[in-house]
Amino acid sequence: MRSLRYTSFFALVSVYGVMVLGSYVSAAGLGLSCVDWPTCRGTFLPSEEIMAEWVHRLFALMAGVSVITMAALSWRVRNSRLRLTATLAAVFVVTQIVLGIIVIDSRLHPLVVSIHLAIGTLLFACTLLSALTANRIYRESMQSVK
Ligand code: HEM
Repeated sequence: MRSLRYTSFFALVSVYGVMVLGSYVSAAGLGLSCVDWPTCRGTFLPSEEIMAEWVHRLFALMAGVSVITMAALSWRVRNSRLRLTATLAAVFVVTQIVLGIIVIDSRLHPLVVSIHLAIGTLLFACTLLSALTANRIYRESMQSVK
């Protein structure tokens, strides 16, 4: 229960971070600073020019791992709402990573970028609901122990 609480909090911070970084990349016109995948200009090492997009991808990786772990842990808890929101978050995070690649392949097509923003918002909403529910379940379980 404690691991689910911490994992969901870490997932929430990672998803929030990747969204803020994504909007920075977009607003600064850096969307095509890395045109290859999974490397960035042929390397995994960051440089100043590609830092924003590189960190966006790094946070996307952290968000992917933590959201999928959260979804797996949610199935250990008998709470259908938590299972639903956490599983939807896992589906959205995988979709979002694939969409990120399509954003670049499409050379920042406005429709694809808008869908990337829309799915990111749904992902954040599901992760937030999961983290709140996991926190409530953890607190209730602590109270019943006392
Ligand atoms: C959890 C995964 C991800 C989330 C939540 C996310 C979220 C976002 C958000 C909110 C934006 C700003 C969109 C806007 O302001 O209209 C953005 C931009 C962007 N994302 Fe992601 N992203 C994720 C993964 C990825 C990945 C894996 C890639 C690349 C392989 C990627 C590539 C981009 C690019 C290139 C932009 C800039 C688009 C532009 O210049 O208009 N994203 N992302």
